[in-house]
Parts: sequence; structure tokens; C-alpha cells
Amino acid sequence: MLMTITKEEYKKRVIRFENLVADRAAFIDAKTPGSDKKENYTIIGPGVSESSNRVINLEEAHGFNFGAAAMPNGIKNSLHSHLTAEVFIVAKGTWRFFWGIDGTEGEAILKEGDVFSIPTLIFRAFENIGADDGFLYCILGEDNPGKVTWAPQVLRAAEGHGLVLLEDGRLIDTTAGQEVPVDGKVVTPISEEELSKVPKISAEEMSKQIFRFQDRVPHQESYLDCRLPGGAKKSYGILGEGMAEAVDRPSLLNNKHAFTFELVEAELGNGFHPFKQSTKQVVFVQKGEWKISLGENGEEGEVVLKEKDIMSIPTDVYRRIESVGKETGFLFIINSGDDRPKLEWAPEVVSAARKTGLYLNENNRLLEL
Ligand SMILES: [Fe+2]
Repeated sequence: MLMTITKEEYKKRVIRFENLVADRAAFIDAKTPGSDKKENYTIIGPGVSESSNRVINLEEAHGFNFGAAAMPNGIKNSLHSHLTAEVFIVAKGTWRFFWGIDGTEGEAILKEGDVFSIPTLIFRAFENIGADDGFLYCILGEDNPGKVTWAPQVLRAAEGHGLVLLEDGRLIDTTAGQEVPVDGKVVTPISEEELSKVPKISAEEMSKQIFRFQDRVPHQESYLDCRLPGGAKKSYGILGEGMAEAVDRPSLLNNKHAFTFELVEAELGNGFHPFKQSTKQVVFVQKGEWKISLGENGEEGEVVLKEKDIMSIPTDVYRRIESVGKETGFLFIINSGDDRPKLEWAPEVVSAARKTGLYLNENNRLLEL
């Protein structure tokens, strides 16, 4: 039976890096000297942007929100906290993250391919310390990630620069002629009492929240198809189990984020044989080029994703995911929810895998015959 997805639906799920739309006034600090020149991107889901001008590439709810920030050297994103998980992925450049109510509790330097999950409630900020423009992807947990809580000094510093943040999350840009509505309540800083409840975390503790690309330790046989021609790949568990079928693949963090996250590495012509799943899945390219073919034999269409391109793969559709670039490919995979999605492999993959000595038990765990 042919798939029900139309080419039109398929296309809107492919989000090219060049089609991301920057918002230069997404947050209250957007005009504060030192924090201006930020570009924020709301890519999948509404995110936490305070701007009414934002463009969302794909509005459909995924159980998480996917966004990005681009900043030139020396520009800071101000101290703030979230009630849901916030995970950063460095796509380009070198970044200094720092945290604590005044930003001095600790810091960490992140490079390309590094991933950082910052615990909820902690006030966090970051700056581009690389030689040129930097680019970060950011995932927030849940469909509704709530509002940003700004450190009190951030709200004070923003005063007089023309932006006013209301309790309902709206950002009013008075320099653009917008007016604070008569019924609008301006955000007041978090109280001393609430500030005293914010947990503290040392740099050493926080280092456990960071996936260092350079120090990555591969897991070789995580999936049913791993011994088939074109199925060789290394995988790295970062948040939760991801979709790994092997029971022994470790993961950096196992606490709940509302999504799971993993990295896959493959050489030319390798990747995932066709499988489908009922869970929402978003992939984005860290390095190389990746071809996504839909349908058991690619009959539903295919697309080649380049660096920083993103795709939300339709649910319940077979997908082959293949590294097709000359250099080693690295692909990040986000799956909605904390539970491991059940991969349903194309029937010929299951029978071919059996000949390589591998099968899945009733719990979808990988076993040797
Ligand atoms: Fe944030």
C-alpha cells in the first residue's frame, strides 16, 4: 500500500539551514548592549521566544521544541532559567557557558559537536568566544516549555533600551512604535525568596551534563541492521536510551527530558536500513551529508540533508537514513518522549539480519542467535 503522506507534507518537514528565519528581537535583552546582535530561531514548536514577529518553520507539536541561536564573537545571551529541560548542541564555533544567579558559579567551554543539558531552574547564560560567528541548536522539553525567568539584573539592564516584557510573555518593542497595552502587566523580577530556592551546581558536577564530541566512545552494535551491508554505524547515547535496541549502550544522562537524544556516525553508504516508528523523530546533520529515503524502497521520495539541515520524519513511514557525503557523517537524532521508541524494521531487514546472527526479542531487544 502506498503511503498517505503527500509530497507537500514531506517538503515542509525538511528545514534547510538557509531557510531558517532569524529574529533579532526575540527576548527582553535583545537591545541591551553586549546582548544585542543575537539572532534567535524558532524552528519546531513555539519555543520560548517573547517576540510576536518570530517565524516558526514547523508549528506541529513534537513533545519538544527545537530552536537555535546565532551570535557574533563577544555577544552574550543573558542569565535566565527554564522549568523544562534545555539542551544545547554546538553546531559551529566555541562557546562559554556560565551559570549561577550572578553567573559566577561555574563555567564550561563547548566546541563543535558538544552537547550540554543544563538542569532546570539553574540560571544560565552563554557567549560566543570563537573567532567568528557561532551557531547553537537548542532543544526545550515538552510541547509548552513555559516562559523564561530572567535574572533580576537582566531585567534592570534592559530598562531604558526600549523593550518591555509583560507577564503574559509578550515583548513590547517601544522603539518600533509598539505600546504597552493599558491592561499589560510588566514582569517584575523573581523574589529573593524564590532566588534562595535555586539549586547550586559546581563546575565539576556540571561537567557530567556535557557530551564532549572529541571524547566520544562509540557503541558499535546498537541496532538490528548493524551487520548488514550499508548498516554499519557507530552510535552514542546522550539523553536516555534513545532508540538503541542493544541493552548495553550507555547514555550520558538518564533523567527525563521529555525527549531522547543520540548521535550516529557512519561512513559513505552506511546508516539505517528502512524502519518505521510511531514516535516523532527529528534528525539534524552535524557533519557530512545524509540521505533520507521514505518508503520501503525509497518510493515515497528522498532528500539529501546537508550540514545544519533538519528534518522531522513523518511517523509510521519507513525511512532509510544513509550517510552519502565524502566525509564521515554525524547525525543527531531526537525522539519524542522519554520511552524508547519501538523500531519496526522492513520485513526483509529482519530476515537478512537473522542471517547475520541477530534478532529482536518480544521487548525489541537485540540478541545473538
Ligand atoms: Fe534558554
